[in-house]
Amino acid sequence: MASVFEARGWEVQRAAIEFIDPRYVERFSRFPLKHRYLDVFRMFVPQMLRATGEIRIPSEVENGDYDLVCIGSPTWWLTTCMPIRSFLKSAIAARLFDGGRHVAAFVVCRRYWRNNIETVQRLTTERGAAWLDRTHFVFAGDQVHSFLSLVSYLGTGENRERYLGVKIPPSNLKPNSDNEARAFAGGSPIAWSPFVSESSRTRRGSSPTTLGCRGRTSRTPR
Ligand SMILES: Cc1cc2nc3c(=O)[nH]c(=O)nc-3n(C[C@H](O)[C@H](O)[C@H](O)COP(=O)(O)O)c2cc1C
Repeated sequence: MASVFEARGWEVQRAAIEFIDPRYVERFSRFPLKHRYLDVFRMFVPQMLRATGEIRIPSEVENGDYDLVCIGSPTWWLTTCMPIRSFLKSAIAARLFDGGRHVAAFVVCRRYWRNNIETVQRLTTERGAAWLDRTHFVFAGDQVHSFLSLVSYLGTGENRERYLGVKIPPSNLKPNSDNEARAFAGGSPIAWSPFVSESSRTRRGSSPTTLGCRGRTSRTPR
């Protein structure tokens, strides 16, 4: 996505949200995970409770004047993962979205995207953002095989051909996702018209991992 934005002449600024909460960070500090089932299952209750945790928000988020914020949101236990939820509920995000900032978002997940993207849409628009567009990218394989593939990958750090004797797809997005991401960043003519029609201006922008923003170099009214 960032390369599509840049090819248009926009400036792109990536900003990864760092998960630093001492209650959870130790289990995710090593990869492959030490206890692949336990480490994932221990996030179940906090995720069901829609808990937030301690994060580090990079200075680019506060310091830039962006025309578009593009949020990448992985799914954890059917909904927005704790780091992104914590960001969306932060005072910095409230200032970022306030006053009709244009926001687009994409979910990355094994399978369950809807609750996640709707949460992102709600939490951003509640804070004053102008919602532009959304999409999602899911893993290769059906329900069972993509699950086995994810568990295998989290525990080994490798894409193996089999797990528990079952042939599994790579623990990755469906093969066409790259093209879909480019098409999304290219923008649907109606939803993205404020941006698509102004490609000659310089803008700043986006991270495909957690959060991305782009903006004009000179301040213009939103
Ligand atoms: C703790 C945890 C819980 C997850 N729960 C779900 C889930 O409920 N549904 C789903 O489709 N994917 C789930 N996933 C898969 C993640 O969405 C997937 O790993 C992530 O989107 C890939 O992004 P990453 O490369 O940044 O990890 C879960 C992953 C983790 C680590």
